[in-house]
Amino acid sequence: MMASAGLPSDPQAPGARAPRLLAVGGGKGGVGKTFVTANLATALARLGKRVVVVDVDLEGANLHTCLGVPSPQKSLADFVSEREEDLGKLLTDTPLPNLKLIGATHGNLADAQPSHLRRVRLLRGLRQLDADVVLLDLGAGAHASVLDYFLVSDDGILVLQPEPTSVENAYTFLRAAFYRRMRLAMVGHGVRQLVTLAMDQRNERGIRTPLDLLREIEATDSAEARRFVETMRVFRPRLIVNGVRTAEDVKLGFAVSSVCKKYFGIEAEYLGYVNYDDEARRSVSQRRPIVDLRGDADVSIYLQRIARKLIGLPSSAASTTAGSAAGGASADGGVASASHSVPPGGGMR
Ligand SMILES: Nc1ncnc2c1ncn2[C@@H]1O[C@H](COP(=O)(O)OP(=O)(O)OP(=O)(O)O)[C@@H](O)[C@H]1O
Ligand SMILES: [Mg+2]
Repeated sequence: MMASAGLPSDPQAPGARAPRLLAVGGGKGGVGKTFVTANLATALARLGKRVVVVDVDLEGANLHTCLGVPSPQKSLADFVSEREEDLGKLLTDTPLPNLKLIGATHGNLADAQPSHLRRVRLLRGLRQLDADVVLLDLGAGAHASVLDYFLVSDDGILVLQPEPTSVENAYTFLRAAFYRRMRLAMVGHGVRQLVTLAMDQRNERGIRTPLDLLREIEATDSAEARRFVETMRVFRPRLIVNGVRTAEDVKLGFAVSSVCKKYFGIEAEYLGYVNYDDEARRSVSQRRPIVDLRGDADVSIYLQRIARKLIGLPSSAASTTAGSAAGGASADGGVASASHSVPPGGGMR
């Protein structure tokens, strides 16, 4: 989505193709980022993609558990602490042959987060991994490192839950990511300062929204304004609503997407929703991704659809079967018809 957030993405070795980098974030803790990442990674691996899934949540590493990998000895912490430069050496096998993990266990409690320079190296290394897709599981919050991973990825995916606190945090996250991206995109010192000023919601210039900011920039520098508009155009976060229980919950993705359009002037695509299901929780206790454990559960069907959508595949025959199992939800990740159809039966109220 946002390939250059001021963080260089290096050219690959000749002939090699850089993997697609996907980051899964969401601001709020506990909304299902890790659950969704583990399952999308598994679904993509099962579709034949060579996938590396990376736990960048250095202070709350638990992706390995969702994938059934006992606490990996080699971890991203070795890269952060400069004990290991080659990310390829940190790969751990998972029960699926196509899916490798870089865990984040055994971190340094005193200094968990990588420096800016180290993050740049990390992102460069991730782009050089021998894989089709690299999925990053981000930590909660809107720390600069989390925002950078989100911004520099080809797709930044936001997971939210249908509850006001999660929606609030998702907007806070998007706002932080948006302004960080804009500040990096602007060239002139004066305009950068204007962006910094706009980041203070109560600024004295009365800039309240990104569109207000754009008007201010247009009045001072038309080249910067064009850059601003272009950056807006390529800033395309994608949305997943997790833990859906009602038809109303399903609509949340559309609502957030339309607020993004109105407030930020950006397109945020609603990728799909995942229903709440106690089986999803049980799959975590059993340390198995639910798409692997119970491929025919509604949760799995929705996750598989989102995975297919991410790599541009149409819904498969399996999904069509799934569609009927799920009460006839549409073939596009269940989203297009969601606003006027009843959400799936299993696990829903
Ligand atoms: N669709 C779902 N239905 C039922 N339970 C779910 C669903 N998604 C996630 N959960 C439960 O919520 C728990 C928390 O999810 P997860 O650890 O993925 O959140 P997170 O956003 O990664 O949290 P953190 O911010 O702490 O990293 C999971 O362990 C699982 O039990
Ligand atoms: Mg997590």
